[in-house]
Amino acid sequence: MNWEKIGEVSELTVGDMKQYEIDGEVIAVYHLQQGWFATADTCTHQDCSLTEGNITGEEIVCPCHGGAFAIKTGRATCLPCVIRLETYPIRIRDDHRNRVDIIPRTHSVVAHCEKADGVRFMPRRRLT
Ligand code: FES
Repeated sequence: MNWEKIGEVSELTVGDMKQYEIDGEVIAVYHLQQGWFATADTCTHQDCSLTEGNITGEEIVCPCHGGAFAIKTGRATCLPCVIRLETYPIRIRDDHRNRVDIIPRTHSVVAHCEKADGVRFMPRRRLT
């Protein structure tokens, strides 16, 4: 797996999200009560930036037309959005000053769920 460092844990408090760009991919990273998650930042309806929207519970609501997606799975949950968002594996590394790592889509990976010390990440989801 080719993890890329995207930042430090301290950059996002619980309930916050932030846009990062890695290898030309624009990614939204969310720090929820349930953990850290990452999706594409571009809405699948008409390309608005989701990090300019609002987090409502476990959903991200697009600022342009009010569509929404489940942050954990990328599933479209509210019209006009019907196409799933890409999601990304993400992990927190305690051994490197709480850095946040992510695997960009350009890196070919196979999703797996391993448990390791201080490491949490979300399995990759396929577009439907
Ligand atoms: S661009 Fe996101 S709902 Fe239209």
